[in-house]
Amino acid sequence: MRLLIKNIKELIQVEETAGSSYKHPDVSLGEDSAGTKADTTTDTNVQAVSLGDLKTGTIETPVQSASSGEPCAGTEHFRDKVCGKNMANLPSITDAFLLMEDGCIVAYGPMRDLQGTDVQADEVIDATGKYVLPAFCDSHTHLVYAGSREQEFVDKIKGLSYEEIARRGGGILNSALRLHETSEDELYDQALVRANEIIGMGTGAVEIKSGYGLNTGDELKMLRVIRRLKETTPLTIRATFLGAHAVPAAYKGRQSEYVDLIVNEMIPAVAHEGLAEFVDCFCDKGFFTCAETERILEAGARYGLRPKIHANELALSGGIQVGVKHNALSVDHLEFTEDAEIEALKGSVTMPTLLPGAAFFLGMKYPPARKMIDRGLPVALASDYNPGSSPSGNMKFILSLATIIMKLTPEEAVNAATLNSAYAMGISDSHGSIGTGKRANVLITKEISSLWYLPYAYTSSLIDFVILGGKVVSRG
Ligand code: NIG
Ligand code: FE
Repeated sequence: MRLLIKNIKELIQVEETAGSSYKHPDVSLGEDSAGTKADTTTDTNVQAVSLGDLKTGTIETPVQSASSGEPCAGTEHFRDKVCGKNMANLPSITDAFLLMEDGCIVAYGPMRDLQGTDVQADEVIDATGKYVLPAFCDSHTHLVYAGSREQEFVDKIKGLSYEEIARRGGGILNSALRLHETSEDELYDQALVRANEIIGMGTGAVEIKSGYGLNTGDELKMLRVIRRLKETTPLTIRATFLGAHAVPAAYKGRQSEYVDLIVNEMIPAVAHEGLAEFVDCFCDKGFFTCAETERILEAGARYGLRPKIHANELALSGGIQVGVKHNALSVDHLEFTEDAEIEALKGSVTMPTLLPGAAFFLGMKYPPARKMIDRGLPVALASDYNPGSSPSGNMKFILSLATIIMKLTPEEAVNAATLNSAYAMGISDSHGSIGTGKRANVLITKEISSLWYLPYAYTSSLIDFVILGGKVVSRG
């Protein structure tokens, strides 16, 4: 199955390909003397596959088929993330084409390279006036949950804080009770609706956490639902075990015994069934301490689970430093981040991941994103889709919050929601940018005046097509 998108107004977030004469905007982007944005795409020639070969159908596609949610195998050296001032650069090609085959990207470049080649495709989409971007990578969600929590939403409006609601048995414990009473099939059905919803909003890869089970059986139930979503949706999914999301009611006053249960029973059981790639812990004031977090991360490491942790949402908890120390793939939330935390993150392998949807919904402070980038850090953006602090998986709205409130430029926000968020879920070799051999997960916008229009028009639905694994899976 070969799908061609042609006449793309601008193809966004492209990788440089081996042997091309493509110029990275690191060297060519900037303001010209008239103060207008330089055309970064002049004289670019991003094209890795011989179009002549494609025409005759003899090309050996240098990638694996990707009909399920699993990634293609990239064949080139791609950027794995973008840091600091480079986040302002978004490599792109104007008047471009993109060719996908068997679930993977096989060629792309300026339209002039297509002219006269008579490339054949099973399906052709004319993207005149439209932008093509990598589908969003949403590296932090809790989208498997039972029911909803709008009662607490109203309680918050009336003045209760997130922590007060949690202390009264609301919050995460409320969701745990509902989840316990919901069958695995019903849980799957509810989560599938959300998975399809985020696909329609342009997400192509998503990380999903457990953490509303809080006992071994229910945690496994959640993770099996995530596995089923992996098997039955075109999304690329990574699963995270978050037994340490809250202390369950049955262990009230016996927090260390609950940590024992996580370490001695839950993590081995999760690993035994191969249900998760990552381990998470809510390392914050009123939840789990740094010492408890370290115990959990060490136990996870013994079973090959890499850390991705909730840190510094409610206080300067030390969680960021713990994450860095344990080579966490990401530390997430970070509303409470000061100079010491930024220093700890510098030069580390840990991606600072910001979830502005939660700060927005809870009416709390936002992380210092601008300062992080200005100090040279990369940042990723994710939705935190969950019933308590961010009941939305709309990544386009996250771009709007990142730009309007956290003062990222649109280019920085797109980098954060594509390549850097792919890094934060360990898939930037195959997702998050347009590169030959990468998985064909892209979105096509409606006709819009510029890329900046995407976060600017913050409630407009601007996504025309979503293509995952090289197939159109949603139409706007
Ligand atoms: O990421 N911070 C902890 N966990 C979730 C909230 C979960 C809930 O309230 O159900 C979060 O915001
Ligand atoms: Fe979360």
